[in-house]
Amino acid sequence: MKTRIIGTGSCLPKAVVTNDDLSKYMDTSDEWISSRTGIKKRHLAVEETTASMSIEAAKQAMENAGVTAAEIDLIILGTVSGDFVTPACACEVQAAIGADRAVAFDINAACSGFMFALNIANAYIQAGLYRTALILGAETLSKIVDWEDRSTCVLFGDGAGAAVVRADENYGLLSFDQGSDGTKGDVLACPGRANNNPLIKNYQKLSYVHMDGQEVYKFAVTTVPASLQKTIEAAGLTAAEIDYFALHQANIRIIQSVSKRLHVNEDKFPISLDHCGNISAASVPILLDEMNRNGLLKPGMKVALSGFGGGLTWASAVVEW
Ligand code: COA
Repeated sequence: MKTRIIGTGSCLPKAVVTNDDLSKYMDTSDEWISSRTGIKKRHLAVEETTASMSIEAAKQAMENAGVTAAEIDLIILGTVSGDFVTPACACEVQAAIGADRAVAFDINAACSGFMFALNIANAYIQAGLYRTALILGAETLSKIVDWEDRSTCVLFGDGAGAAVVRADENYGLLSFDQGSDGTKGDVLACPGRANNNPLIKNYQKLSYVHMDGQEVYKFAVTTVPASLQKTIEAAGLTAAEIDYFALHQANIRIIQSVSKRLHVNEDKFPISLDHCGNISAASVPILLDEMNRNGLLKPGMKVALSGFGGGLTWASAVVEW
Protein backbone atom coordinates (compact mmCIF):
# COMPACT_ATOMS: atom_id res chain seq x y z
CA MET A 1 0.00 0.00 0.00
CA LYS A 2 1.34 3.44 -0.89
CA THR A 3 0.39 6.97 0.18
CA ARG A 4 -0.65 8.91 -2.90
CA ILE A 5 -1.25 12.64 -3.34
CA ILE A 6 -4.66 12.76 -5.02
CA GLY A 7 -5.49 16.48 -4.91
CA THR A 8 -3.94 19.88 -4.22
CA GLY A 9 -5.09 23.39 -3.38
CA SER A 10 -3.63 26.74 -2.41
CA CYS A 11 -4.54 30.25 -1.34
CA LEU A 12 -2.54 33.48 -1.48
CA PRO A 13 -3.64 36.78 0.08
CA LYS A 14 -5.07 39.40 -2.29
CA ALA A 15 -2.45 42.09 -1.63
CA VAL A 16 0.67 41.86 -3.80
CA VAL A 17 3.79 43.74 -2.73
CA THR A 18 6.60 44.13 -5.26
CA ASN A 19 10.25 44.76 -4.43
CA ASP A 20 9.79 48.34 -5.63
CA ASP A 21 6.85 48.70 -3.22
CA LEU A 22 9.10 47.53 -0.36
CA SER A 23 11.71 50.12 -1.27
CA LYS A 24 9.15 52.79 -0.30
CA TYR A 25 9.11 51.45 3.29
CA MET A 26 12.80 50.58 3.78
CA ASP A 27 16.28 51.04 2.34
CA THR A 28 16.25 48.24 -0.25
CA SER A 29 15.90 47.80 -3.99
CA ASP A 30 14.53 45.43 -6.60
CA GLU A 31 18.11 44.95 -7.80
CA TRP A 32 19.35 43.78 -4.35
CA ILE A 33 16.43 41.45 -3.66
CA SER A 34 16.13 39.98 -7.18
CA SER A 35 19.84 39.36 -7.68
CA ARG A 36 20.36 37.66 -4.31
CA THR A 37 17.11 35.72 -4.02
CA GLY A 38 15.13 35.62 -7.29
CA ILE A 39 12.12 37.07 -5.44
CA LYS A 40 10.18 39.77 -7.34
CA LYS A 41 7.05 40.06 -5.24
CA ARG A 42 5.14 38.42 -2.41
CA HIS A 43 1.53 38.33 -1.13
CA LEU A 44 0.90 39.82 2.30
CA ALA A 45 -2.19 39.18 4.41
CA VAL A 46 -4.42 42.13 5.29
CA GLU A 47 -7.80 40.56 5.99
CA GLU A 48 -6.68 36.96 5.51
CA THR A 49 -5.58 34.80 8.44
CA THR A 50 -3.59 31.58 8.59
CA ALA A 51 -6.87 29.72 9.14
CA SER A 52 -8.86 31.48 6.40
CA MET A 53 -6.16 30.72 3.81
CA SER A 54 -5.86 27.12 5.08
CA ILE A 55 -9.61 26.59 4.77
CA GLU A 56 -9.65 27.87 1.18
CA ALA A 57 -6.64 25.69 0.24
CA ALA A 58 -8.26 22.68 1.93
CA LYS A 59 -11.54 23.13 0.03
CA GLN A 60 -9.69 23.35 -3.27
CA ALA A 61 -7.61 20.25 -2.51
CA MET A 62 -10.72 18.26 -1.56
CA GLU A 63 -12.50 19.34 -4.73
CA ASN A 64 -9.44 18.52 -6.83
CA ALA A 65 -9.24 15.08 -5.16
CA GLY A 66 -13.00 14.43 -5.40
CA VAL A 67 -13.08 13.75 -1.65
CA THR A 68 -15.81 14.82 0.78
CA ALA A 69 -15.21 16.08 4.33
CA ALA A 70 -16.81 12.90 5.70
CA GLU A 71 -14.05 10.82 4.10
CA ILE A 72 -11.20 12.65 5.86
CA ASP A 73 -9.68 10.72 8.76
CA LEU A 74 -6.79 13.00 9.63
CA ILE A 75 -5.79 16.68 9.27
CA ILE A 76 -2.17 17.68 9.89
CA LEU A 77 -1.12 21.29 9.41
CA GLY A 78 2.47 22.59 9.48
CA THR A 79 2.80 26.18 10.65
CA VAL A 80 4.90 28.53 12.76
CA SER A 81 2.38 31.36 12.50
CA GLY A 82 -1.04 30.03 13.47
CA ASP A 83 -3.66 32.52 14.61
CA PHE A 84 -3.99 30.97 18.06
CA VAL A 85 -1.66 29.20 20.45
CA THR A 86 -4.69 26.98 20.93
CA PRO A 87 -6.86 25.79 19.23
CA ALA A 88 -4.65 24.36 16.50
CA CYS A 89 -5.20 25.78 13.02
CA ALA A 90 -5.91 22.20 11.87
CA CYS A 91 -8.90 22.16 14.27
CA GLU A 92 -10.17 25.43 12.79
CA VAL A 93 -9.94 23.83 9.34
CA GLN A 94 -11.75 20.73 10.60
CA ALA A 95 -14.62 22.83 11.94
CA ALA A 96 -14.89 24.96 8.79
CA ILE A 97 -14.98 22.06 6.34
CA GLY A 98 -17.09 19.84 8.59
CA ALA A 99 -14.66 16.91 8.73
CA ASP A 100 -16.33 15.62 11.90
CA ARG A 101 -14.59 12.24 11.95
CA ALA A 102 -11.07 13.63 11.51
CA VAL A 103 -8.31 13.84 14.08
CA ALA A 104 -6.69 17.27 13.66
CA PHE A 105 -3.45 18.77 14.97
CA ASP A 106 -0.67 21.21 14.04
CA ILE A 107 3.05 20.52 13.85
CA ASN A 108 6.01 22.90 13.96
CA ALA A 109 8.88 21.93 11.70
CA ALA A 110 9.21 25.44 10.18
CA CYS A 111 9.82 25.33 6.42
CA SER A 112 9.84 21.50 6.48
CA GLY A 113 6.35 21.48 8.07
CA PHE A 114 4.40 20.24 5.06
CA MET A 115 6.98 17.52 4.37
CA PHE A 116 6.91 16.35 7.99
CA ALA A 117 3.09 16.33 7.81
CA LEU A 118 3.31 14.18 4.67
CA ASN A 119 5.56 11.68 6.43
CA ILE A 120 3.36 11.54 9.54
CA ALA A 121 0.27 10.94 7.38
CA ASN A 122 2.21 8.26 5.50
CA ALA A 123 3.15 6.55 8.79
CA TYR A 124 -0.50 6.48 9.92
CA ILE A 125 -1.63 5.17 6.52
CA GLN A 126 1.12 2.51 6.44
CA ALA A 127 0.13 1.44 9.94
CA GLY A 128 -3.41 0.93 8.68
CA LEU A 129 -4.87 3.44 11.16
CA TYR A 130 -6.22 5.93 8.61
CA ARG A 131 -6.94 5.91 4.89
CA THR A 132 -7.44 9.54 3.84
CA ALA A 133 -5.60 12.60 5.17
CA LEU A 134 -5.62 16.32 4.50
CA ILE A 135 -2.15 17.82 4.95
CA LEU A 136 -1.39 21.51 4.87
CA GLY A 137 1.36 24.10 5.21
CA ALA A 138 0.09 27.59 6.06
CA GLU A 139 1.75 30.78 7.21
CA THR A 140 1.14 34.43 7.95
CA LEU A 141 4.85 35.13 8.29
CA SER A 142 4.31 38.87 7.86
CA LYS A 143 3.15 39.02 11.49
CA ILE A 144 6.33 37.42 12.88
CA VAL A 145 9.02 38.99 10.70
CA ASP A 146 10.76 42.16 11.84
CA TRP A 147 9.78 44.88 9.37
CA GLU A 148 12.78 46.90 10.57
CA ASP A 149 15.22 44.13 9.55
CA ARG A 150 15.58 44.44 5.78
CA SER A 151 17.84 41.37 5.58
CA THR A 152 14.97 39.04 6.57
CA CYS A 153 11.61 40.74 5.94
CA VAL A 154 12.11 41.04 2.16
CA LEU A 155 12.41 37.25 1.85
CA PHE A 156 9.07 36.15 3.23
CA GLY A 157 5.40 36.07 2.19
CA ASP A 158 2.03 34.71 3.33
CA GLY A 159 -0.12 31.86 1.98
CA ALA A 160 -1.39 28.31 2.41
CA GLY A 161 -1.15 25.06 0.45
CA ALA A 162 -2.92 21.75 0.94
CA ALA A 163 -2.95 18.21 -0.39
CA VAL A 164 -5.23 15.23 0.09
CA VAL A 165 -3.36 11.93 0.42
CA ARG A 166 -4.91 8.49 0.36
CA ALA A 167 -3.88 4.83 0.56
CA ASP A 168 -3.37 3.55 -3.00
CA GLU A 169 -2.35 0.14 -4.30
CA ASN A 170 -0.44 1.40 -7.33
CA TYR A 171 1.10 4.86 -7.09
CA GLY A 172 2.40 6.97 -4.22
CA LEU A 173 5.27 7.75 -1.91
CA LEU A 174 8.37 5.72 -2.82
CA SER A 175 10.90 6.95 -0.26
CA PHE A 176 11.44 9.51 2.46
CA ASP A 177 14.31 11.09 4.34
CA GLN A 178 14.01 13.53 7.21
CA GLY A 179 16.24 14.98 9.88
CA SER A 180 16.75 17.69 12.48
CA ASP A 181 19.74 19.44 14.02
CA GLY A 182 18.63 21.19 17.18
CA THR A 183 22.18 22.40 17.89
CA LYS A 184 21.75 24.94 15.06
CA GLY A 185 18.35 26.22 16.18
CA ASP A 186 19.63 29.75 16.65
CA VAL A 187 20.54 30.37 12.99
CA LEU A 188 16.86 30.80 12.10
CA ALA A 189 14.69 31.49 15.10
CA CYS A 190 11.64 33.35 16.34
CA PRO A 191 11.36 33.48 20.15
CA GLY A 192 7.92 32.71 21.57
CA ARG A 193 5.92 34.77 24.03
CA ALA A 194 8.06 36.18 26.80
CA ASN A 195 7.37 35.17 30.37
CA ASN A 196 5.97 38.35 31.92
CA ASN A 197 4.67 36.91 35.15
CA PRO A 198 4.88 39.16 38.24
CA LEU A 199 8.18 37.56 39.34
CA ILE A 200 9.97 38.69 36.14
CA LYS A 201 11.67 42.04 36.75
CA ASN A 202 12.16 43.32 33.19
CA TYR A 203 9.08 43.43 30.98
CA GLN A 204 9.90 41.60 27.73
CA LYS A 205 8.67 42.97 24.43
CA LEU A 206 7.40 40.81 21.56
CA SER A 207 10.20 39.41 19.46
CA TYR A 208 10.45 38.52 15.80
CA VAL A 209 12.24 36.22 13.34
CA HIS A 210 16.01 36.57 13.24
CA MET A 211 18.30 34.72 10.89
CA ASP A 212 21.97 34.19 10.12
CA GLY A 213 21.42 34.12 6.34
CA GLN A 214 24.85 32.82 5.43
CA GLU A 215 24.68 29.90 7.90
CA VAL A 216 21.21 28.98 6.61
CA TYR A 217 22.52 29.17 3.05
CA LYS A 218 25.48 26.85 3.83
CA PHE A 219 23.16 24.39 5.58
CA ALA A 220 20.73 24.34 2.65
CA VAL A 221 23.26 23.84 -0.15
CA THR A 222 24.91 20.89 1.60
CA THR A 223 22.01 19.15 3.37
CA VAL A 224 19.34 19.40 0.65
CA PRO A 225 21.25 17.74 -2.22
CA ALA A 226 22.52 15.01 0.15
CA SER A 227 18.99 14.35 1.45
CA LEU A 228 17.55 14.30 -2.07
CA GLN A 229 20.30 11.96 -3.30
CA LYS A 230 19.64 9.57 -0.43
CA THR A 231 15.88 9.63 -1.05
CA ILE A 232 16.22 9.13 -4.81
CA GLU A 233 18.56 6.15 -4.28
CA ALA A 234 16.17 4.68 -1.70
CA ALA A 235 13.45 4.83 -4.37
CA GLY A 236 15.72 2.79 -6.68
CA LEU A 237 16.09 5.72 -9.07
CA THR A 238 18.76 8.13 -10.32
CA ALA A 239 18.42 11.93 -10.30
CA ALA A 240 18.11 11.82 -14.12
CA GLU A 241 14.97 9.69 -13.78
CA ILE A 242 13.15 12.31 -11.67
CA ASP A 243 10.67 14.30 -13.78
CA TYR A 244 10.44 17.30 -11.44
CA PHE A 245 12.02 18.60 -8.25
CA ALA A 246 9.59 20.60 -6.09
CA LEU A 247 11.83 22.29 -3.53
CA HIS A 248 11.11 24.66 -0.69
CA GLN A 249 11.13 28.12 -2.25
CA ALA A 250 13.70 29.95 -0.11
CA ASN A 251 16.12 31.36 -2.62
CA ILE A 252 16.82 30.83 -6.35
CA ARG A 253 20.55 30.49 -5.63
CA ILE A 254 19.91 27.55 -3.29
CA ILE A 255 17.79 25.86 -5.99
CA GLN A 256 20.46 26.50 -8.65
CA SER A 257 23.13 25.05 -6.37
CA VAL A 258 21.04 21.90 -5.73
CA SER A 259 20.45 21.48 -9.47
CA LYS A 260 24.23 21.73 -10.11
CA ARG A 261 25.14 19.30 -7.35
CA LEU A 262 22.65 16.73 -8.62
CA HIS A 263 23.71 17.34 -12.27
CA VAL A 264 20.09 17.97 -13.23
CA ASN A 265 18.95 20.75 -15.57
CA GLU A 266 17.33 23.74 -13.83
CA ASP A 267 14.25 23.30 -16.08
CA LYS A 268 13.26 20.42 -13.83
CA PHE A 269 13.00 22.77 -10.83
CA PRO A 270 9.71 24.72 -11.11
CA ILE A 271 9.70 28.03 -9.26
CA SER A 272 7.09 29.99 -7.35
CA LEU A 273 9.39 32.14 -5.19
CA ASP A 274 9.52 34.83 -7.89
CA HIS A 275 5.87 35.73 -7.21
CA CYS A 276 5.39 34.35 -3.64
CA GLY A 277 8.69 34.70 -1.80
CA ASN A 278 9.47 32.19 0.94
CA ILE A 279 6.26 31.03 2.67
CA SER A 280 7.92 28.52 5.01
CA ALA A 281 5.70 25.42 5.45
CA ALA A 282 3.37 26.59 2.66
CA SER A 283 6.02 26.82 -0.07
CA VAL A 284 6.10 23.16 -1.17
CA PRO A 285 2.31 22.58 -1.30
CA ILE A 286 1.69 25.91 -3.09
CA LEU A 287 4.32 25.01 -5.69
CA LEU A 288 2.85 21.50 -6.07
CA ASP A 289 -0.61 22.99 -6.57
CA GLU A 290 0.70 25.36 -9.24
CA MET A 291 2.42 22.44 -11.02
CA ASN A 292 -0.74 20.35 -10.76
CA ARG A 293 -3.04 23.08 -12.06
CA ASN A 294 -0.64 23.99 -14.88
CA GLY A 295 -0.84 20.39 -16.12
CA LEU A 296 2.83 19.61 -15.46
CA LEU A 297 2.11 16.46 -13.48
CA LYS A 298 0.98 13.23 -15.19
CA PRO A 299 0.10 9.93 -13.46
CA GLY A 300 3.20 7.85 -12.77
CA MET A 301 5.63 10.77 -13.03
CA LYS A 302 8.40 10.78 -10.41
CA VAL A 303 8.54 13.96 -8.36
CA ALA A 304 11.19 14.68 -5.72
CA LEU A 305 10.07 17.03 -2.93
CA SER A 306 12.25 18.73 -0.35
CA GLY A 307 11.65 21.12 2.53
CA PHE A 308 14.31 22.66 4.79
CA GLY A 309 14.56 25.42 7.35
CA GLY A 310 14.30 26.39 11.02
CA GLY A 311 14.98 23.83 13.69
CA LEU A 312 17.11 23.13 11.77
CA THR A 313 14.94 20.60 9.95
CA TRP A 314 14.87 18.98 6.53
CA ALA A 315 12.81 16.35 4.72
CA SER A 316 12.74 14.92 1.21
CA ALA A 317 10.46 12.48 -0.55
CA VAL A 318 10.10 10.83 -3.93
CA VAL A 319 6.49 10.39 -5.01
CA GLU A 320 4.90 8.80 -8.02
CA TRP A 321 2.19 11.21 -9.09
N1 COA B 1 18.38 45.51 0.68
C1 COA B 1 19.56 46.12 0.48
N2 COA B 1 20.68 45.77 1.16
C2 COA B 1 20.57 44.80 2.07
C3 COA B 1 19.36 44.14 2.33
C4 COA B 1 18.22 44.53 1.59
N3 COA B 1 17.02 43.97 1.75
N4 COA B 1 19.55 43.21 3.28
C5 COA B 1 20.85 43.26 3.62
N5 COA B 1 21.46 44.23 2.89
C6 COA B 1 22.87 44.62 2.92
C7 COA B 1 23.53 44.27 4.24
O1 COA B 1 23.31 45.31 5.17
C8 COA B 1 24.97 44.18 3.82
O2 COA B 1 25.51 45.47 3.71
P1 COA B 1 27.00 45.80 4.19
O3 COA B 1 27.88 44.94 3.35
O4 COA B 1 27.12 47.25 3.92
O5 COA B 1 27.05 45.41 5.63
C9 COA B 1 24.91 43.59 2.42
O6 COA B 1 23.57 43.83 1.95
C10 COA B 1 25.25 42.12 2.35
O7 COA B 1 24.51 41.48 3.35
P2 COA B 1 24.69 39.95 3.54
O8 COA B 1 23.80 39.51 4.68
O9 COA B 1 26.14 39.58 3.59
O10 COA B 1 24.09 39.39 2.18
P3 COA B 1 24.18 37.96 1.56
O11 COA B 1 24.91 38.04 0.28
O12 COA B 1 24.58 36.91 2.55
O13 COA B 1 22.65 37.69 1.20
C11 COA B 1 20.71 36.53 1.96
C12 COA B 1 21.70 37.66 2.22
C13 COA B 1 19.71 36.51 3.10
C14 COA B 1 19.99 36.79 0.64
C15 COA B 1 21.49 35.17 1.87
O14 COA B 1 22.35 35.03 2.98
C16 COA B 1 20.57 34.01 1.81
O15 COA B 1 19.86 33.83 0.85
N6 COA B 1 20.57 33.13 2.83
C17 COA B 1 19.63 32.06 2.92
C18 COA B 1 18.41 32.57 3.64
C19 COA B 1 17.22 31.67 3.51
O16 COA B 1 16.97 31.11 2.48
N7 COA B 1 16.48 31.54 4.62
C20 COA B 1 15.30 30.79 4.72
C21 COA B 1 15.60 29.35 4.71
S1 COA B 1 14.19 28.44 5.05
